[in-house]
Amino acid sequence: MQHPIGIFDSGYGGLTVFRSIAEALPQYDYIYLGDNGRAPYGNRSFDTVHQYTLECVEWFFKMGCPLVILACNTASAKALRTIQQRDLPLIAPDKRVLGVIRPTAEVVGKYTKTGVVGVLGTRGTVNSGSYAIEISHFFPDVTVHQLACPMWVPLIENGEYDSDGADYFVKKYLDELLQQAPDIDTILLACTHYPLLINKIMKFLPDHISVVTQGGIVAESLTDYLKRHPEMETRISKGGSTRYFTTDDTADFDTHGSLFLGREVRSQFTTL
Ligand code: DGL
Repeated sequence: MQHPIGIFDSGYGGLTVFRSIAEALPQYDYIYLGDNGRAPYGNRSFDTVHQYTLECVEWFFKMGCPLVILACNTASAKALRTIQQRDLPLIAPDKRVLGVIRPTAEVVGKYTKTGVVGVLGTRGTVNSGSYAIEISHFFPDVTVHQLACPMWVPLIENGEYDSDGADYFVKKYLDELLQQAPDIDTILLACTHYPLLINKIMKFLPDHISVVTQGGIVAESLTDYLKRHPEMETRISKGGSTRYFTTDDTADFDTHGSLFLGREVRSQFTTL
């Protein structure tokens, strides 16, 4: 039986993170699960995001994964802590679940010269305050300004990320963020979907503002984690394979997924 690394997202967005992980660590087996049947998670309550995420994590454990990465900011913000601290000791004390917020918070402060960072995410991620809290642990002198961009995920999911119509909402949120704090010089895209808007985001930002995406950061952090945890690394099977699963329509997942991943995706349907 395989013992793959599980990569979880509410839908296809986590493929932007998985893309970097697979490039950095091609030797491992992977299972990707998109909970498309219940996505998006971005506007859902803490309890709902926790319940959905835990059900998916238990599914990964049944599939033989010793390690699961929540490649979803909303799930990392609203479910990870409870899963790590309350659920895992009861259901699977020898397994691990990691998220994307801490590894990102550990490095994002290095990009700013003004000490003012903007964070863009879903309502769930922004309202949880997770980024501001985590960044303040690693960079106490950095000020964080957050903004929820609830129109961006639907634009992307409906294939409008490259259209002229998307310009309005891209500019609107960037303007709102910069009005909050004109001295922002670093903007973190704290949502798996937003890298698909990067060309438009760059178009509406002045040159001195850098835009940080998470894929490379999470891949580097996972590489480091596996070096520091040989007891986990040796449990993961190394066949270089990836299987994709979705809780909704596979044809839809494959069409969208290939855009997020940058190569062909062939998914299988699963119930949880
Ligand atoms: N994957 C989610 C995130 O990174 C965005 C999509 C959703 O709202 O479910 O926050």
